[in-house]
Amino acid sequence: PFRIAVFASGSGSNFQAIVDAVQAGKLDVEVGLLVCDRPGAKVAERAAAAGVETFAFRPKEYASKEAYESEIVKRMQEQRIDLVVLAGYMRIISDTLLQPYEGRIVNIHPSLLPSFPGLDAIGQALAHGVKVTGVTVHFVDGGMDTGPIIAQRAVEVAEGDTADTLADKIHPVEHELYPSVIRAIREGRVALSGDGRRVGWR
Ligand code: GAR
Repeated sequence: PFRIAVFASGSGSNFQAIVDAVQAGKLDVEVGLLVCDRPGAKVAERAAAAGVETFAFRPKEYASKEAYESEIVKRMQEQRIDLVVLAGYMRIISDTLLQPYEGRIVNIHPSLLPSFPGLDAIGQALAHGVKVTGVTVHFVDGGMDTGPIIAQRAVEVAEGDTADTLADKIHPVEHELYPSVIRAIREGRVALSGDGRRVGWR
């Protein structure tokens, strides 16, 4: 089996889309672990309902980022995780986690990167007045929403869109795109170039 860990901090609608794709037989992976840095977040309820083991922790209760990331690595090794899927986990990943999972961590972000990295990408796009924004899935490196781009989808911004109405257009695109990219990785159809900077599809 090909086992994934999903990292999420909030609502977990992307976590749900992945679990639903697995349960529908459209994605041949096992969701082995939810890692959640905000105990009590809605995503933890979703994991409980789906029977997915959860590691929920408060970063402040650890001496350092290295300390909690080491704990995460330990849990992922116990669960034999093959791929790390960040889905609304709003923290930079450091070397403690990057090194053991090099080239095996992906993230989804609600903009056409490299535009609007970081917090509130949807608000940033509106504030900038762009007419097209979208969704990006990329491999994770040590930066904030940086790393080789795997797939992108465009979403048009309409006159009068608010953060809520634009989010309502972006989220369904995420929910379709992320499971399909995970499937492609699982099937070996996504590969990093030799220099590790670009993604090729076959
Ligand atoms: C998603 O829109 C995801 O793209 C975004 O957080 C949201 C989580 O929603 N991630 C980032 O902004 C990463 N910088 P969800 O909890 O409902 O899946």
